[in-house]
Amino acid sequence: MHKFNYKSNNLYCEDVKVQELAERFGTPLYIYSYHTLIDHFLKLKNAFKSIDPLICYSVKANSNLAILKALADKGAGLDIVSGGELYRAKKAGIDPKKIVYASVGKTEEEITQALKAGILFFNVESIPELELINKIACRLAVKTNVAIRINPDVEPKTHHYITTGKLTNKFGIDFETARIIFLTRNDFPHLDICGIHIHIGSQITQSSPYVAALEKVVRFIGQLARKGIDLKYLNIGGGLGIIYDKETPQTAREFSKKVLPLLRQANLKIIMEPGRFIAGNSGILVTKVLFVKKTPLKNFIIVDSGMNDLIRPSLYGAYHDISPLTRTDGKNHIHLKYDIVGPICESGDFLAKGRGMPKVAEGDYLVVFSCGAYGFTMSSNYNSRTRAEEVLVFKDEAFVIRKRERQKDLIRNEIIPSFLLGF
Ligand code: LLP
Repeated sequence: MHKFNYKSNNLYCEDVKVQELAERFGTPLYIYSYHTLIDHFLKLKNAFKSIDPLICYSVKANSNLAILKALADKGAGLDIVSGGELYRAKKAGIDPKKIVYASVGKTEEEITQALKAGILFFNVESIPELELINKIACRLAVKTNVAIRINPDVEPKTHHYITTGKLTNKFGIDFETARIIFLTRNDFPHLDICGIHIHIGSQITQSSPYVAALEKVVRFIGQLARKGIDLKYLNIGGGLGIIYDKETPQTAREFSKKVLPLLRQANLKIIMEPGRFIAGNSGILVTKVLFVKKTPLKNFIIVDSGMNDLIRPSLYGAYHDISPLTRTDGKNHIHLKYDIVGPICESGDFLAKGRGMPKVAEGDYLVVFSCGAYGFTMSSNYNSRTRAEEVLVFKDEAFVIRKRERQKDLIRNEIIPSFLLGF
């Protein structure tokens, strides 16, 4: 279910006309629907009700404080990957005992911050990282929970840039090394190595890769138990795919049906780290047509959002549905095929290529769907473009949750050294 619908030819987000938001706040504009966000969270929570997992929403998907607070209020924990995300979590008032921390490259400073905050556990990805966390915990005279991120070497059938559970990827630890870690866990007196983590990739539309990975992991948990090593947590990561185009992803229920038998067998507290599944279809990007340009070979719609605002098409060749905000004829009759491109000085700066679109004119608004995850969070200031405004819609009200950057924000941390100033 999502709450972006056309009513008499105008797109609405919940009960708010999107065109009015575009006129009021300007473009590029990210708009999120509160109820869509929460609905997706609850879909997953309900599908797994029988085992009551801790759903740690993956902050990287959409890290706005308002989004974090909205989900935490419904019982979500957070999956973080940096000191910056921990800072956000604290600012949003999240219970640290609901925070799990993954990343192949945690720094001493970040580990110290997380230990001081008292997070639920670290997802650890290498032996040197285990040693470092143990050393810092010793220095702080604390003991912390740790889950070993296993790389189960399964094929998640997604884009290779977002495949993480193959042995050729930088993530996680192979089963044999993990076994040695568990057998020698007393060598790390400041760690309670009490969990297993997997995250095999993102935008995974079928259950079979999860089942394949979990079968291996559950077998491994059994082997550990027979050696007297009992665990507390099994973190199954995120990765659930959504509809961008013609995908037919598993629903939360279909997914739970497939994996619940294995999770019950593991008999541990289950943690999940969904990002896209919760936030992806909760957000849109609204952009304005600057020019329609015809060349001898092609038609271009040049819009005011570029790869700095939404990088997914440029980086992954990702598909995002794009439509005019207002329809003239009840439908969108395809007029021509266009490349929909941004203003940035790169040919890789596009939102869509060869896309059939109805007739559009300068000043029209276009909506780019499914931008709630990995949209704003991957945006940048490239070409010294200020980052977009973000708005959260709740029923018939819209709340600014991040102001549009101003040009003075672009140079806030820059310094011209004195030798260039002639001193
Ligand atoms: N847990 C871990 C350890 C992760 O690395 C990720 C995502 C997640 C959970 C959440 O995955 P999700 O449920 O959102 O698929 N920028 C890419 C996606 C990168 C995902 C990185 N890790 C994109 O725009 O498609």
